[in-house]
Amino acid sequence: MTRRFRAIRGPVRSGRLLLRFPRRTDAEEIAAAVSDRRIARATLNIPFPYHQSDALRFIIRSRRRRERGEGLSLLMVERSSGQIVGGVSLFAFDWDRSKAEIGYWVTPSAWGQGFAPEAVHLLARVAFRDLKLHRIAAGTFEFNSASGRVLLKTGFVREGLARRDVRKGGRWHNTVMYGLLPSDLRRPKPPRARRVAK
Ligand SMILES: CC(C)(COP(=O)(O)OP(=O)(O)OC[C@H]1O[C@@H](n2cnc3c(N)ncnc32)[C@H](O)[C@@H]1OP(=O)(O)O)[C@@H](O)C(=O)NCCC(=O)NCCS
Repeated sequence: MTRRFRAIRGPVRSGRLLLRFPRRTDAEEIAAAVSDRRIARATLNIPFPYHQSDALRFIIRSRRRRERGEGLSLLMVERSSGQIVGGVSLFAFDWDRSKAEIGYWVTPSAWGQGFAPEAVHLLARVAFRDLKLHRIAAGTFEFNSASGRVLLKTGFVREGLARRDVRKGGRWHNTVMYGLLPSDLRRPKPPRARRVAK
């Protein structure tokens, strides 16, 4: 484990979630949770269909990146059921400038319950406090208002639009850019009512 992530050795907990490092034995459950066309469409590096072999590669790569101080990928585990409901990562670390980017996904059957805001809030709090980051950035596709809502609920500020920023599916896409400073961070309000993904 790199000295940089020494402060985050074990799982971190919030009200309903535990965030922990992925293990090889999680591969089947991760693949079942993340393999969805809507998740693949909204993210840059998650394929559809997503097989157990993809999950194993992710688990091995995330360990290597953690050991090198390049990235921190954690699973969102619902504390009451022990089930994996999503993933949240810090990546693109710039240690000279104490900043990184955040990304996340939630399994569709658990959408609308506020898991992503809870996980983003927890990881951002840990990153500011224990990793001494001073800024966290996030980018979403323009169509992804659900992800924009997650960021606004945790205090991120919309900072601009990066035009023709990423290439996916053979065409260029704009990215909506968000940023979070420690003083911006807000505890998200609990969701009003449970919704079921269609
Ligand atoms: C974006 C995402 C992480 C949100 O996770 P979540 O735990 O459902 O977050 P929330 O419960 O706070 O819901 C966020 C928004 O999703 C939308 N939403 C909620 N329930 C939904 C449902 N059943 N179906 C579709 N969208 C829904 C709403 O716009 C909601 O905002 P609101 O609460 O202000 O109305 C999740 O939709 C997801 O994994 N999407 C695909 C991957 C992705 O977009 N990752 C981020 C890449 S930048």
